[in-house]
Amino acid sequence: MDVYDGQSLNQRFGIDGHIAFAQRGGLLVAEMRGAGAVATVALQGGQVLEFQPSGEEPVLFLSSRSHFEIGKAPRGGIPICWPWFGPHPSDPSLPQHGFARIMPWSVVETRVLEGGRAMLRLALHDDETTRQAWPYAFSLEYTVTVGPELEVELLHRNTDQATVTITNTLHTYLSVGAVERCVIHGLDGCDYLDKVDAFARKTQHGPVTISGETDRIYLGTTTPCVVEDPVIGRSISVWKEGSRSTVVWNPWIEKAQAMEDFDPLGYLRMVCVESANAADDAMTVAPGAEHRLRVRLSLQHG
Ligand code: BG6
Repeated sequence: MDVYDGQSLNQRFGIDGHIAFAQRGGLLVAEMRGAGAVATVALQGGQVLEFQPSGEEPVLFLSSRSHFEIGKAPRGGIPICWPWFGPHPSDPSLPQHGFARIMPWSVVETRVLEGGRAMLRLALHDDETTRQAWPYAFSLEYTVTVGPELEVELLHRNTDQATVTITNTLHTYLSVGAVERCVIHGLDGCDYLDKVDAFARKTQHGPVTISGETDRIYLGTTTPCVVEDPVIGRSISVWKEGSRSTVVWNPWIEKAQAMEDFDPLGYLRMVCVESANAADDAMTVAPGAEHRLRVRLSLQHG
């Protein structure tokens, strides 16, 4: 089915009061409403753009300068970085963070679940374009469930004859009141690769705080992270499964200014806490095997 035909998507997959397909700039998006929460998901890249439970501030950062254009991942939300994270290991001409975030995904299922939560399932399979960048067969499913919590699950089935090596992240841009005042718990004692210090290997002592450019791959981390935000007066918990690394990223002023799609002061209102399998935590997936990466975002007050 043509993923860019909004009318036929609405006829086949729209659910009154819960899921409707609409245009956002040049991209087709699913507007979801479940148990009082709202979310927007671009079919390009399967990228969740927005998530906001009722009575709350937005949970995800989305730059007001984002491009909603075919072939570009909007700056914010949850881009899906797959089958590699960062630059391609040997070919710099291939897209940063893999191709999944800029490919058109198809809608395979929509549903209203128990408690009125809304569910959208998307799929992406190898084709001529993906095989030019990465010569393997694959099947990906991405399930987004919207309610008081946001749940996303990326399922990779290796349909190739070869064992493949994957690095990935669900590149979650969290919206915060003032990043310098936030405290990120859950990484104490972990080793990390410091990308702003030539990938030097360091150890985290205590919680993570941000007061300058931060780009780190925490290794061997399987527990949830909690971002305490005293300015908005809430904590965002990033629960995960199927992830052994956590990337923490804030570009700070100079890098943010160099990105034409970043709000001028946006770096003060965001931090990425990405559930990943990266660097030493790259995964191999045998023929016929599956890998599931799940993330759940929830809010706590007080
Ligand atoms: C982070 C990386 O995950 O993504 C950073 O660790 C990178 O190095 C950032 O700059 C943003 O990447 P992009 O391709 O979306 O600009």
